[in-house]
Amino acid sequence: MTTSSRSDAFVFFGATGDLAYKQVFPALQAMIKRDHFDMPIIGVSKSQWTDDQLRDRAKDSLQKHGGVDAQAFKKMSAHLQFISGDYQDDATYQKLRRALGHAKRPLHYLAIPPSMFEAVTKGLAKSGCAKDARVVVEKPFGRDLASARLLNRTLHESFPEEAIFRIDHYLGKEAVENLLYFRFANTFMEPVWCRQHIASMQITMAEQFGVQGRGAFYEEVGAIRDVVQNHMLQVMTLLTMEAPKDNNADFIPDAKLKVLNAMRPLLPTEVVRGQFHGYRDEDGVAHDSQVETFAALRLHLDNERWKGVPIYIRAGKKLPLTCTEVFVELKPPTRSVFDADEGASSNYFRFRLSPDVLITIGARVKTPGEVMAGTDTELIAHHQTHDEMTPYERLLGDALVGNASLFTRGDTVEAAWRVVDPILDNVVPVIEYSPGAWGPAEAAQIVVGTDHWHDPSPEAVSS
Ligand code: BG6
Repeated sequence: MTTSSRSDAFVFFGATGDLAYKQVFPALQAMIKRDHFDMPIIGVSKSQWTDDQLRDRAKDSLQKHGGVDAQAFKKMSAHLQFISGDYQDDATYQKLRRALGHAKRPLHYLAIPPSMFEAVTKGLAKSGCAKDARVVVEKPFGRDLASARLLNRTLHESFPEEAIFRIDHYLGKEAVENLLYFRFANTFMEPVWCRQHIASMQITMAEQFGVQGRGAFYEEVGAIRDVVQNHMLQVMTLLTMEAPKDNNADFIPDAKLKVLNAMRPLLPTEVVRGQFHGYRDEDGVAHDSQVETFAALRLHLDNERWKGVPIYIRAGKKLPLTCTEVFVELKPPTRSVFDADEGASSNYFRFRLSPDVLITIGARVKTPGEVMAGTDTELIAHHQTHDEMTPYERLLGDALVGNASLFTRGDTVEAAWRVVDPILDNVVPVIEYSPGAWGPAEAAQIVVGTDHWHDPSPEAVSS
C-alpha cells in the first residue's frame, strides 16, 4: 500500500464507549457531509448490541454533539454495522473479516484502553484484517517510557510504523498548526526566535472545570500524563524545533525528535504538583489520592538556539478560567534610551490557542506629549473565533489517506516520555490548592529571576 492510498473501510473498537460517543460519530457525520467519506463503518465492542442499537447511539451522540444532519446521518446509518465480540476471541476477528467484505485497506481505530492493544492488534494480524491496513491509537500512549516502548514493540509486531497513527488531538487544532506556520512563514520571526532575544517561554493550559465524572480515569493518569507529556510537550516542540527540511510527513517528526532529544529530563526541583481541594471526594478517586490535578514545570533545552532560556509549562483543573495560551517574552532593549520607560514591560508574543485563536505582539508606543515616555500596547496579528473542522474530523480524515504529519511518531512519543519519566508518580509531593486559584502558591517558585507566570485573562484581546 502506498502511503497515500485511501482506506476503504472504517472499523472502530470501543464502539459503545465514551470516545466513540463524543468524538467519532460527530467526526464521521462531518466527513460524510463534506462528501469525502463513503465506505463501510464497522463498530466493534463486547456489548451485545444490534446494528440498530449502534445507529440509535450514533443519533443520540450527534444530538448532543453538534446536531444531526438528516442527509448525512441517513448515509452514515446505511454504512453502520455492529460486531459484538470478545477482543481475546479469534471468532471476533473472523466476523470482522467477513464484515469487511471486499474492503482491502481498512482503517482500525482503537478507542479502547492501551491494555487491550496487544490482544486486538494480534487478533487483527492473525485474521488477515491487518494486511494493508492502518491503525489509529489514542493517547496517553503508555504510562511511562518503559510502557511506551513496550506498546511500540507490540504495535510493530502487527503494523509497520507508517501504518500506525498515534492521536494527539492538540495537533489537529488549527491554532496549534498555525504555530509552526507562523514561525516559519514569516521572515521577522527567525532573527528573534533564539536565546539572544528571548527571555523565556511559557504555556498555560487552564481548565475551569474539574475531572467531569472521569475520576477513575484521572486516578490512572494525573495532569502530567494526561496533558503535559503529550499536548503541552507537542506545543513546546512546535515552538522550539528547527525548520523541517520540507513540509513533509517525514521531516517534521525528525525535527521534533531532535528538539525533544535536546530537552533535559526533569528534576524534582523543577516541578510543582497540586491537587484541588475536593478532588478526593470525586467518584472513583481514592480518599488519600496523591494524583496531581495541576502541574507546573521548568524545562531546559540544551541546544545552540535555546540554551539558558527557561521554558515553563503549567496545566491544571479547577483554575480561574478555561484557556490555553503561550507567552513568549523577549529580552528588554540592551540600552534603555528613554529613561522614563525604565522598568516598562518588554516585548512579547502571545499565542492564544483556545477557546479563541489569537496571536498578538506586545510592544511599546510613545504616549502623545512632550515627554519621551510610552505605554504598552498589543498588535494583533491574527484573530479567529473557531476552527472550521474539529480536531477529530481533521485527524481521522488524514489517517484515512495516510497523511501522518499531524500524528506522533513512535520515537517522538518515547522522547517525550524520557523528559517527564524522572518525575512521574509521587517523586514530588502533591500540594493542595483551592478551586479557582492558579494552583498552589509554590508554583510561583518554578519561574526564576524577575519573571512570573503570565495568567491569561478572560478577554482575548486587551483593550
Ligand atoms: C484531553 C484530556 O486529552 O484534553 C482532558 O484528557 C482535557 O483532561 C482535554 O480536558 C482538553 O482538550 P481541549 O481540546 O478540550 O482543550
